[in-house]
Amino acid sequence: MNVIKAKDYDEMSTLACNLTIERMKNYKRPVLGLATGSTPEGLYRCLIENYEKGNISFNNVTTFNLDEYIGLDENNKNSYHYYMNKKLFEHIDLPKEQAYVPDGVASCFETECKQYEERIKKAGGIDIQLLGLGINGHIGFNEPGTSLKSRTHVVTLDESTRNANAHFFASEGEVPKRAISMGVQTIMESKEIILLVSGEKKAEALKRLMTGNISEQFPASVLHKHDDLTIVADEAALSLVDNV
Ligand code: F6R
Repeated sequence: MNVIKAKDYDEMSTLACNLTIERMKNYKRPVLGLATGSTPEGLYRCLIENYEKGNISFNNVTTFNLDEYIGLDENNKNSYHYYMNKKLFEHIDLPKEQAYVPDGVASCFETECKQYEERIKKAGGIDIQLLGLGINGHIGFNEPGTSLKSRTHVVTLDESTRNANAHFFASEGEVPKRAISMGVQTIMESKEIILLVSGEKKAEALKRLMTGNISEQFPASVLHKHDDLTIVADEAALSLVDNV
């Protein structure tokens, strides 16, 4: 694993953005895996700035988001699809039909999960997967205890995850209890992974990821086995890791 240390959140966002752009240039039709949440917001702002300056186009890009809450559609302000529209998609030249987010209001979730996997396969697999890190070690919405062989599936969210994400909602009670998430195995099949981590509250999780054993109880630990993982983290997130 390669670790890039940034001074703070803004520097982490810029470094991760530059790395993403550089890596995208290695592919004719890049397939990006995208995350939501607080961590990648700065990276998305930076990608938009680069698009506006003419440094990058998304016309040939296909994207697959990691996850979506069950019960929320694209028009719901708390859905991840809405987040992606507002924070990235509406500001760039990515054709709508090339931007995939799991459908949180699908009529059959089993079919939706299967089709999501098939779409990823048809696109040639994910080239560059952007990831955030859950305090409990989740990647995507793969909570502790998820099989490391899992593929896109319906998950029940941990109370700790619902609590951590409550700030996006009016109250914790409004945070959906279930979501669709790419599986751990789906994520691991990406050719390259860029993991963004910021802030002191992620320091313990990042230390465990970087120094602990691989365990289903801490899904992010599996990233050790990935051949092309770059961690872009700020000083606060790396504060418990020595020699970085
Ligand atoms: C979001 C996702 C999650 C988040 C993680 C960190 O699509 O898959 O794994 O990356 O919960 O969230 P933030 O960035 O809000 O701390």
